[in-house]
Amino acid sequence: MKVIVTGCNGQVGKELCKKSKEYDLEIISLDLPDFDITDMEAVDEIISKSNISAVINAAAYTAVDKAESEPDIAFNVNQKGPAYLAASCRKQKIPLIHISTDYVFDGSKIDAYIETDPVSPVGVYGKSKAAGEADVRKILAEHVILRTAWLCSEHGNNFVKTMIRLGQERNEIGVVADQYGCPTFANDIAEALLDIVGKIAIKNDIAWGTYHYCGKGVTTWYGFAKEILELAGEYTGLKVRNIVPLTTKEYPTPAKRPANSALDCTLLKNNFNIFPKPWQNSLDDLVKRLFDYSADE
Ligand SMILES: NC(=O)c1ccc[n+]([C@@H]2O[C@H](COP(=O)([O-])OP(=O)(O)OC[C@H]3O[C@@H](n4cnc5c(N)ncnc54)[C@H](OP(=O)(O)O)[C@@H]3O)[C@@H](O)[C@H]2O)c1
Repeated sequence: MKVIVTGCNGQVGKELCKKSKEYDLEIISLDLPDFDITDMEAVDEIISKSNISAVINAAAYTAVDKAESEPDIAFNVNQKGPAYLAASCRKQKIPLIHISTDYVFDGSKIDAYIETDPVSPVGVYGKSKAAGEADVRKILAEHVILRTAWLCSEHGNNFVKTMIRLGQERNEIGVVADQYGCPTFANDIAEALLDIVGKIAIKNDIAWGTYHYCGKGVTTWYGFAKEILELAGEYTGLKVRNIVPLTTKEYPTPAKRPANSALDCTLLKNNFNIFPKPWQNSLDDLVKRLFDYSADE
């Protein structure tokens, strides 16, 4: 089976390409600057000529704060891009697996969000992703939209890498302790996405639609930071002595963020037999890999 992966240089894209070797899959990996999902003609040309069975869209504009001052770019990449991919997939009669975000929710729910909860994003990034989801649903019935959250990996900039760096540089770090969510690791979601593609290849009664996938367990950024620094301290000398819990008010950012964006993944378990892993286990693996990796550099 041949599959296009867009955004192949991003956190999830990189892991998708790496993990695909464990599956019976041939991947065509695409990213900027050679391939732009907002270029409708380029999208249509590659999808029509590649003789592929599915597209996984891991390309996105993910700069949550910057999106507040660049709404046009955010909507172009996160709404128009997926819409063009969906339209080309429809022409070729192939499915689109598209990734979305917990930030489509406003965070006012007490419990974890389920797929049918109404979206109500509080920032530009979430709004652009919600618009992209809506367009994919409207254009192409054969879609899986997989919402995820708080992504981290060996690659790019993410919370785990930032906390380790700050822990090496500073005596004290303040971290927001009143926003709740589910840390998720790019290699885990890549596996989930490839399992979904594998099921699409062998089953003809796929329950198309919107699903949630995130690490198992809920924490705050503060709880996440404490765990990261405790693990990192086993590998490296850290300067940090004090991790201070902050309120959202005490740590203002350009974009508002939901107070609770925990995702309930039951539907994915029921329909695809995919079970999220506890986030602490995956964090442990990532911290090990990060220090092995630096040792090799
Ligand atoms: N990161 C998170 O915490 C998080 C949380 C929830 C959901 N998600 C969702 O998860 C998915 C993957 O996120 P990620 O963290 O892997 O993102 P990422 O690391 O930012 O990777 C996105 C990739 O897409 C590329 N890209 C941007 N604009 C493009 C365009 N017009 N055409 C083609 N490629 C383009 C980026 O290239 P450049 O780097 O050159 O721009 C980058 O390589 C996204 O849908 C995101 O919304 C992420």
